[in-house]
Amino acid sequence: MKLLDGKLASQAIKEELRLLVAQRVAEGKKVPHLAAILIGNNGASATYVSAKVKACEETGFKSTLIKFEESITEHTLLKKIEELNTDPDIDGILVQLPLPAHIAEEKIITAIDPEKDVDGFHPINLGKMVQGQASYIPATPYGIMLLLAHYQLDITGKHAVVIGRSNIVGRPMSILLSGNTQPGNCTVTLCHSKTKDLARHCQEADIIVAALGKAEFLKAEMVKQDAIVIDVGITRVNDASKKSGFRLLGDVAFEAVAKKCEWITPVPGGVGPMTIAALLKNTFHACVKRD
Ligand code: GUN
Repeated sequence: MKLLDGKLASQAIKEELRLLVAQRVAEGKKVPHLAAILIGNNGASATYVSAKVKACEETGFKSTLIKFEESITEHTLLKKIEELNTDPDIDGILVQLPLPAHIAEEKIITAIDPEKDVDGFHPINLGKMVQGQASYIPATPYGIMLLLAHYQLDITGKHAVVIGRSNIVGRPMSILLSGNTQPGNCTVTLCHSKTKDLARHCQEADIIVAALGKAEFLKAEMVKQDAIVIDVGITRVNDASKKSGFRLLGDVAFEAVAKKCEWITPVPGGVGPMTIAALLKNTFHACVKRD
């Protein structure tokens, strides 16, 4: 078993970006500027957003964190997005999901200027991605593709099973893995909560991307010998022995599954840091496009 170390791979990407930003500064060009909107008191969302802001600082990007109460109206949020859309200093905008139930996610995502949509959630960017056109690719699946590329894994012609069909991870992941790209060119099965005999599909997979959000769902007996397993899950479970009061579990029963794998991502330190590196790459390109 070998680890797909997202911490290591993301550091390499961030270092590359840091040098590119320093070069821009030397040339008198603007530095990339990410605006992140965080709504409410979801502990996990707050942690993710602060990790994104910290990564911006490490890489020499500017970042602006905008926090709103859970009770914010859709109208106020849309006004803020419009303000950021027209602010010439802002290159990338992200609205951390999930949103409070009274706010229509689709309306918010669609309000973001597609040129500043560094999360790649806008229908224009998703549509371009489906057609294989240049676009901002959602950070988690993009980060996974960067991780596979970092380790130069040849996945061409392999059978990939993606578990989970969310707009953020599973569905775009299935499209990227099946694309005529390097890495890519997989034969993809997209499984979800209504899939019959999920275990059988998984047993036939050379690559499994587990993105369903159920702690330790993927068991060793569901995995073929020498498979590549990518774990997108990060569920918080209570753990009194930890200072934070919780520990993080992936969607994969790591210890048992790892014994059968050729490659596997750890949780934490696998997909999570790659997601942030991918977001920074999108933001950097958004900045360059606006030169
Ligand atoms: N919530 C979970 N993942 C993501 C992400 O990649 N971007 C945003 N904006 N919200 C998320």
